[in-house]
Amino acid sequence: MYSLLFRTLFRRMDPEKAHHLAFAWIRLAARVPVLRTFLAAFLAPRRKELRVEALGRRMHGPFGLAAGFDKNAVAVDGLTMLGFDHVEIGTVTAHPQPGNPKKRLFRLVPDRALINRMGFNNEGSAAVAERLAAREAVFKATVGVNIGKTKIVPEEEAIGDYVTSTERLAEHADYLVVNVSSPNTPGLRNLQAVDHLRPLLTAVREAADRTVTGRRVPLLVKIAPDLADEDVDAVADLAVELGLDGIIATNTTIARDGLGLTSDPALVAETGGLSGAPVKDRSLQVLRRLYARVGDRVTLIGVGGVTTAEDAWRRILAGATLVQGYSAFVYEGPLWARTVHRGLAERLRASPYATLAEAVGAETRTAEDGAHPDHPEGPDRPEKRSTAA
Ligand SMILES: Cc1cc2nc3c(=O)[nH]c(=O)nc-3n(C[C@H](O)[C@H](O)[C@H](O)COP(=O)(O)O)c2cc1C
Repeated sequence: MYSLLFRTLFRRMDPEKAHHLAFAWIRLAARVPVLRTFLAAFLAPRRKELRVEALGRRMHGPFGLAAGFDKNAVAVDGLTMLGFDHVEIGTVTAHPQPGNPKKRLFRLVPDRALINRMGFNNEGSAAVAERLAAREAVFKATVGVNIGKTKIVPEEEAIGDYVTSTERLAEHADYLVVNVSSPNTPGLRNLQAVDHLRPLLTAVREAADRTVTGRRVPLLVKIAPDLADEDVDAVADLAVELGLDGIIATNTTIARDGLGLTSDPALVAETGGLSGAPVKDRSLQVLRRLYARVGDRVTLIGVGGVTTAEDAWRRILAGATLVQGYSAFVYEGPLWARTVHRGLAERLRASPYATLAEAVGAETRTAEDGAHPDHPEGPDRPEKRSTAA
């Protein structure tokens, strides 16, 4: 059904217009009580076995919507209704900004990929904070808040810009993400160098603690797949050193690897970050590398090219406690989260693990023992351990 809609309607539309149309439908459906109850029951059935505890919260499952889809926090309930276990809003900047000139979003349909150079179009952290404060939640949702640097603010003043957004938004965030990895804000990715990242993350941590006194807001950093391996290691070490709560791996890539020959070369040549299937392998590599370095000390969120339940399961085995996606939502449609959840539950059931928590990083542990992650004890698996979720 959705693939027909995609082929006949969305694919013929400008991608950004299609996004706004789909977004409007989601928001509308979430406003109609009978409809949203029906849709949530169908699209977001709660599966006990998929419950996870992460970042100090109990969540219905591990699968969330990555940043960039709901930049201004206008559709948290609608997206939760579609089955996402957490919704990361943003990127939000201290000053409102229009983003780059249109056209700035491109579909590489044969590659199941997108290229975007949106440039953090958003209403600014004051407006988004006001909206989150006024939000009357219909569904219990986990809301991550992703913050970035305002384009016109010079690099030397970046810390102040992030701190301003933190002061406004931290109290509304179930977790806070410092985004230093978007390719579409000039100079932003330089902040990934640990010499810049250490004072930035320290200042944001202090600002969050100053503003929110009743609880500790978990703080994460989101990194690019284009980092060299040594730089990935350096961020991992810094995260442990600073007691960071998590790392999100990864954002979009400026590379153009992994594309087939069928996407229009003019589209492939567009400037911006590539996401979707072509970024899958590198995102997984970065995740594995991080897990090998930080183990269970830092919560990892795997994102980049996740399309199927198998992709999500692989991220969990590679060390991700939570998994996110964005581009595949465009291609798979509203049943996507439901399909991923169902497949994850099947995989968990067929695995030797009683809970998803036990499966996190199992690939690394079993690789050390020389066994396969799906059959860590060999073909005659023992009874599952009965640890509660
Ligand atoms: C149109 C678009 C806009 C995005 N905007 C943001 C953003 O504002 N902040 C951010 O951290 N990531 C942003 N991303 C990156 C995604 O959150 C995600 O990290 C990336 O797309 C890889 O996941 P995917 O392959 O599932 O799309 C954006 C991605 C797309 C496609």
